[in-house]
Formats: sequence, structure tokens, C-alpha cells
Amino acid sequence: MKNKNKFYITTPIYYPSAKPHMGHAYSSIVADVFARFKRLDNNEVFFLTGTDEHGLKIENAAKKNNQSPIDFCNDISKTFRDLTKILNLSNDDFIRTTETRHHKTVHLLWNKLLKNGDIFLSKYKGWYSVSDEAYYQDDEILNEGKNKIAKISRSKVEWVEEESFFFKLSAWQDRLLEFYNNNKDFIMPISRRNEVISFVKGGLKDLSVSRTSFNWGIKVPNNNKHVIYVWLDALTNYLSAINFQNKDNSLYRKFWPESLHIIGKDILRFHAVYWPAFLLSAGIHPPKKIFSHGWILSGDEKMSKSKGNILEPIDLINEFGLDQIRYYLMKEVSLGNDGKISRENLILCINSDLANNFGNLCQRILSFVNSKCENKIPTPKEFTSEDNELLNSMTSNIEKIRKLMTNQNLNEYIKFTIDYSFLANKYINDMEPWKLFKTDKDRMNTILYVALESIRKISILLSPVMPNSTNNILTMLNIDFKKQDLDSVSNNLILKPGQDLNKIKIIFKKF
Ligand code: ME8
Ligand code: MG
Repeated sequence: MKNKNKFYITTPIYYPSAKPHMGHAYSSIVADVFARFKRLDNNEVFFLTGTDEHGLKIENAAKKNNQSPIDFCNDISKTFRDLTKILNLSNDDFIRTTETRHHKTVHLLWNKLLKNGDIFLSKYKGWYSVSDEAYYQDDEILNEGKNKIAKISRSKVEWVEEESFFFKLSAWQDRLLEFYNNNKDFIMPISRRNEVISFVKGGLKDLSVSRTSFNWGIKVPNNNKHVIYVWLDALTNYLSAINFQNKDNSLYRKFWPESLHIIGKDILRFHAVYWPAFLLSAGIHPPKKIFSHGWILSGDEKMSKSKGNILEPIDLINEFGLDQIRYYLMKEVSLGNDGKISRENLILCINSDLANNFGNLCQRILSFVNSKCENKIPTPKEFTSEDNELLNSMTSNIEKIRKLMTNQNLNEYIKFTIDYSFLANKYINDMEPWKLFKTDKDRMNTILYVALESIRKISILLSPVMPNSTNNILTMLNIDFKKQDLDSVSNNLILKPGQDLNKIKIIFKKF
């Protein structure tokens, strides 16, 4: 296996202010699927997730819980770390912004901005949303009853007046626009890119990057009065985790800036405007791509704790199975857009795609081979044009498949694969191998072999989405998944005739 490229894939680091919900699970699974796909394609991958533990929002949440901020964070950060196991994420690291390595990196970055003349002391007067940890301009505020809320998130804002360090964001407006123009893929999808460009063209104000009215955060170097703005702190996690701050920064040199930040659309401005401005100021190349997904909706609203409209990921996983939930979210939510999810649709999706389509293909072929071929891979003889058509409709499309995933076109990728499974089922129905047992064993064996090859390829392609179930199927086929890669999907006739299959079991139950 040759290593082709390096990819650094990240999820947002989650606020441990509340337990993880479906939106968090979704964001993490999307990133995991890309990380697994890139590894399947023989790339070297570093996949990061973690928790974002500073700021007023966390300080308040801890107070409410009668805990010190760090005790509170230790508890809830753990539920996010546990979630990585529950979701079977393949992350290489889990970063907490309360760690020393991160503290060091934030200071290093701060000092670079300072040295570049982009930090100055002044006073902030304006709106702040604790729930978004974001500053808003007057024209971004609405009245809602007695409250003022942010138009974009509808979260409550408060008026803040305090001494603050500022980052000269206004000075970076033109250079940001130039950067977007030279890096057409930097913000995806295109609709989000356009949104960001028009925001920046609208004029950038200098950004308050420290707070003085509370304590919980990383202090400004040599200044105990100021806590660094939690977003400057949080974004820097992407550098801390790859040892930017260490003498041995080989991870950083290997993976930066080949980075894909997967984020939700609510945190686009921080990632697509502030983050590249900080990095450009510090003389660091911005990441390769920011991909923004939409929201998981419950009815017509964003699923969130404050709205109380949550479908619990762990409950659904216990009821339906992890891979079923991963598949449903990746298949049915159009990546980049908002997606409504519901139990009814989940059940429909599991039954039609997994139980009746792919699961049925596996079940009937494997049990037939078990009962009629002594559970050994049958020996094919001559391939007919129907056989070749099915075999080649996958192999001839590998470049197309690779490109879909390079462009985060995950829904098309899954659709291609599950359509192929549908074709394989149709092929079996048309070929009727069960009628040939007494009359033409060679032909029967050839058909079964072709069907088994299609099961192998579908399993490999779906492995980033459903790692456990596909591994179980490949194990039944007596194939070591670790030795499979995307190229092995572009080859036919990998299965060895005569080889024993393993015991079969049911993979996808109907609900
Ligand atoms: O924003 N649907 O953390 P967070 C889809 N700490 N995605 C959702 C969602 C939903 N209903 N609800 C939340 C933060 N998310 C910061 C990130 S990164 C340097 C710092 C997504 O816990 C949301 O869009 O509030 C975001 O991408 C992620 O979950 C974390 O949200
Ligand atoms: Mg949030």
C-alpha cells in the first residue's frame, strides 16, 4: 500500500455546557466518514475532536451546577469522550482546551499577532451573546419582547462595556477577500462561500479578543486582568493538537495546512473570517477547506437543548443499532443543507436500504452458498455479458467515486453504492441461480461468484459509513478488511474460489 496524501480532518470542539445531542453526533459522524474514506484510499489521516472548555457560557453552566468550572468540564468533557466510543469515531486525538499544550499554543499565537502589530488595547461597547460566545453589531439585533436577541441565532444578547484588547480585523478585509479569491475551495458549499464573501465585503470591524468581566479562560500573556476571547482560544485547538507549539512539530509539518474543518453553519463566521485572519496575521497558512453542514432539525427547528426538541442519539442507537443510525444520518440528510429527522423516516430508511436491499442481498446469497456450495466460494467459469456488466459498473466508476468524496458529495457516494446493491439484487432475480442447482452448476457458481464480488465491493465502499456491519460481512466472506482499500474495489475477482466462508449471521434486521 502506498501512501498518497496527508489529510488533517477535524470536528468542531464541543462546548461541554450540556450533554451531547444528535447535532453533535451528526457533525462527528460526518467527519469520521471522511476520515475513514481517506484512510481507505491509502492516505495518511489525522482526525481530531475534543471539547471547548473556556468562556462565560461554561463558567455560568458550572455555577448553575454548583461546581468549579474545571470539575464541571472534567465531567461533561468525559461524556463527549465517551460519545466518541459510542459513535465508533476513529479520532486520533481528543483535545481539551484546558490542557497545557493548548494553553502554550494560544500564548504563542497571541504573541505572534501582537508582534505583527495586530493587537491593541481599547474599550468594547456593544452586544454580546453568551450562548453563541459572539459579538454582534446593532443591525444584527432584534427586539423580542423585553429581550434583545441576535437575528441569526435568536439567542439572547447583553450590553457589554469593558476594557478589551482588539484584533485589527478591519485591516485584513482586502487580504481576506484576496485569499478567498485565490482559494476557491476554501469555503464550501458555494452558497456558504458567497455568504462569507458578502459579509466581508460589507466591512469588517476590529474584533474584541479579550474580556475583563469574568475569569474562566486563558489569561493574556503577562496580564492577569484579561481573559483571551474564547473563540481565539478555541480555534487554536487545531494547531495545539498537532504540536505547533513544540520543538518537535513533525505532526504540524506533516499535516498543516492540508486540513478539512467540518463545522456547522452557525460557526461559519468564526472559521471562515476570524480564523484565516488570525493565521494570516501570524504568518501561518490558513487551512485547506472549511466545510459547513446544515442543522439537524426536529420539525422545523434546530435541535437543541434550549428548545427541548431532542432525539437522543444514544437512545436511538440502543434501539436501532449504531451503523443504522450512522447510515440514516449520512444518507438522508443532504450534506450542507438542513435535514429533518424522525423515527418514521429512520425506520423506512433502515427497512428499505439496509434490510430489504443490501441486507437481503447478503442474506440470500450467503445462505444459498452455505447450503448449496458447502459454504465455500464457488468457482466461476465463463462470464456472460450480464455478469461483466454488473462487475464493471462498479470498477469503471472508481475515479468518479473518489471525486465525489473529494468534493464532500457524500449523499451521491452513498446513493451510487446503494443503487449498485439494487442492481445486484435485480441481477440475482433475473439470473435465478437457485434454478440451476440441478441443471447447470457451472453457471450457478459463476452467478454466485459475481454476486459475492458485488457484496465485497459494496461492503468496502460502505465501510466508512457502517464500519462494524461491513466488517462483519467481510468477515463472513473471510476477507481481512485491513487489507482492503479503494483500489481493491476497482479490481474484480479478488475472492478466491474454494476458500471457506465463515459462519453467517443476520446483519440488518427489519423494524
Ligand atoms: O460551536 N444540527 O460548540 P457547540 C447540526 N465550541 N449540527 C449541530 C446542531 C444541530 N442541531 N447543534 C449543534 C461550538 N451542532 C464551539 C466550536 S470549534 C473551534 C468551536 C454543531 O457544542 C454546531 O454547528 O455549540 C457545531 O458545528 C458543533 O455542533 C458544536 O457545537
Ligand atoms: Mg452551539
